[in-house]
Amino acid sequence: MAQLWGGRFTKETDQMVYDFNASITFDKRLYKQDIEGSMAHVKMLAKQQILTEQERDEILKGLTGILRDVENGTLAITTEYEDIHSFVEANLIDRIGDVGKKLHTGRSRNDQVALDMRLYVREEVLYTDQLVYGLLKVLQRIMEENIDTFMPGFTHLQKAQPVTLAHHIGAYFEMFRRDRSRLKDIYERMNYCPLGAGALAGTTYPLDRDYTAQLLGFAGPTRNSMDSVSDRDYVIEYLSALATIMMHLSRFSEEVIIWNTNEYRFVEIDDAYSTGSSIMPQKKNPDIAELVRGKTGRVYGALMSMLTTMKGLPLAYNKDMQEDKEGVFDAIDTTTMCLTLFTGMMDTIVFNKDVMEASAKNGFTNATDVADYLVNHGVPFRDAHSISGRLVLRCIAENKALDDLTLDEYKEECPAFEADIYGAISMKTCVERRLTLGAPGEAVMRQVIAENKAYLEREAPSCDQK
Ligand code: ARG
Repeated sequence: MAQLWGGRFTKETDQMVYDFNASITFDKRLYKQDIEGSMAHVKMLAKQQILTEQERDEILKGLTGILRDVENGTLAITTEYEDIHSFVEANLIDRIGDVGKKLHTGRSRNDQVALDMRLYVREEVLYTDQLVYGLLKVLQRIMEENIDTFMPGFTHLQKAQPVTLAHHIGAYFEMFRRDRSRLKDIYERMNYCPLGAGALAGTTYPLDRDYTAQLLGFAGPTRNSMDSVSDRDYVIEYLSALATIMMHLSRFSEEVIIWNTNEYRFVEIDDAYSTGSSIMPQKKNPDIAELVRGKTGRVYGALMSMLTTMKGLPLAYNKDMQEDKEGVFDAIDTTTMCLTLFTGMMDTIVFNKDVMEASAKNGFTNATDVADYLVNHGVPFRDAHSISGRLVLRCIAENKALDDLTLDEYKEECPAFEADIYGAISMKTCVERRLTLGAPGEAVMRQVIAENKAYLEREAPSCDQK
């Protein structure tokens, strides 16, 4: 029975198995890293006299040609090859003949792919850092311009106490600054070269692993060959950093969306960064912010997927690890796009300062300061809190602000109130008295902004283009 359709079935299955197994459709992204790694390998082989200098030069010339032709579009990376490694090697042999077959001496695709991924991720870590830095610069400018732009600070999305826009944006500055420090840590920890680990147990050739590590800009070679071919911790760490960046962007987006509502009107998103509705002519939607918020899930997904892929793998290499690529590539593309667009949106957004200030005045955000005033006049805080609460209740019933009550009305609740209550609870006073480090008061805010500036100068990104 099986024989009747076996031949045809086997053929079809073979094709499917081949396709299932192949990674060329996505690992073609690694062509540059693959060639770069091969060049370092071949230089080392010649240095160790495993290849002659002539063989080295022929191979290097072939590899250079492949790189050039891929980049100028004359050599296409097609699905005829199983993966990027076989693509490069087969093309090399086509070009330079049998000497090309010597390239893979003392190397396995396992340490090769481990190297390619590391080189790729290492470069992307720097690029992400550069993008986050760009956003920080925009945030710094907004902070500098809004030291005295009052707005309500919220807890539970209820108006709580007055802050300034500089202070609010400053919170995001801290988040993205931590993101940069995370990327820096990841870079340092991952910057070791797995090349020379072979399939899993090193090789019998006298490879100089220090030399290849040095040629490729690593701090040194990795220390255990089994770990070298099966470690994807740096992918997980990077995905985790990207997920955290997206979480920060998503929270920020949520605020922009709220601030952009008709009810808040705190911001005006630039036309170039908003979209309209096909049916409702009045609409100007914050789509960029919504998409950034929405795409955050994909990046979380990539992190969970990678953690899950790795959790059951015995040492050393297993084909499961080929799954490390698509999720990371997608997470990188997504985060890159989101950081770029979000930065552009923030760079052009207009803050309706008057609306923000009026909103801060309207929500009893100075009720704590009324209580603090009483405490400064000898009333215990608990009593002061409830006196201020009763005054708020009265204002709600009479539809006015605490600043609008007469001194007699204040005194009815507590005789400790004097005429200086108005100055004490004005928004300017409320904010300016908050002078503990990290608070919105102008003097400390200026200190923080100056420190941010020094930080941006001191820790400029180590690469400035891609
Ligand atoms: N395409 C493979 C990957 O991405 C390359 C390594 C293949 N090694 C092997 N022993 N099959 O992981």
